[in-house]
Order: sequence, then C-alpha cells, then structure tokens
Amino acid sequence: MSGTGVPQLQHGRLRLLSGPNLNLLGEREPAVYGTTTLAQIVEEAAAEAARYGVDLDHVQSNHEGVLIDAVHAARSEVDAVVINPGAFTHYAWGLHDALAAFDGPILEVHLSNPQRREAWRHTSVVAPVATGTISGLGAAGYVLAVRAVAGLLGLAEET
Ligand code: DQA
Repeated sequence: MSGTGVPQLQHGRLRLLSGPNLNLLGEREPAVYGTTTLAQIVEEAAAEAARYGVDLDHVQSNHEGVLIDAVHAARSEVDAVVINPGAFTHYAWGLHDALAAFDGPILEVHLSNPQRREAWRHTSVVAPVATGTISGLGAAGYVLAVRAVAGLLGLAEET
C-alpha cells in the first residue's frame, strides 16, 4: 500500500492453482470432496474476482514442477495466489520455497478439513508461507478465499 488508502494493484489479476488429482473433482471420492467439478469451482472463483474488478486465471497440474513454474511466473503476473496444493500440501518443499518467493497474499484452500483426517494430512508445508488457510468448507472455500484476497488487497466490491 502507498499510504494513500488506494489499493496498489499491479496486475489486476489473481492466480488459482490446483494440485494433483483435483482435475478429478466431481468424480473423485464425492463423499469427501463433494460433487462440484473443478471447472465449476474456477467459474465461481472467477465470478467472485470479477465482482472486485480483477481477473482470475487457473493452472491445475499433477506435477510439482509445473506448479512451481506457475508460482514463479505469478511473481510478475498476478497480485495474489489462491492454492489448493492437494497432496503436495503435505510434503512439497519445492512448492513451499517457490511460494516463499512470492510477495503478495497467498490463500491456501482445502475442500476437506485435513485436521479431521489421517495423521499424515495434519502437516502442511504450505501453511507457513500462506497468509491464511480455509479448510473444510467445500467449494465455498474458494469463493471465501477470493473475497479474503480482495480484502487483503484493499479492493472494494464493484457489483
Ligand atoms: C485436499 C486435502 C489433501 O489432503 C488431499 O491430498 C487432496 C485434497 C482438499 O482439498 O481437501 O488432494 O487438498
């Protein structure tokens, strides 16, 4: 912020990142992850971003390096990152380091609440470099994350 109270948006763009297996949302373990598809989640998140006058792009990958590259590019392309790292959450230190090099807000999102699940899901290597985490609220968590990011960037609703 410049101290003027005016949001200092450099790019007018947010990046949503989705980790491994999230391309199967809707079909994959619906009792755990719900029936909303990833395409629907992206559409809702983009619609929420549009309410604050910013664009949202999306990268899903089952490969850690692709997500790391997308975070590196985010450094010069977007103002904030929303990420559901999938299982990378629990062990992907390369992704952790990439996110640590991103200066804007980072919201970590999980459809399920990993703390209520197996012990190996209780550790997040992303949480220490995230501004905040939203877990256990299903697809609604993404809309809330975009809203949180808008607040952190000082954006007002336009619609
Ligand atoms: C998840 C939780 C992770 O433990 C899991 O590996 C996923 C999805 C979630 O959104 O609840 O793939 O990130």
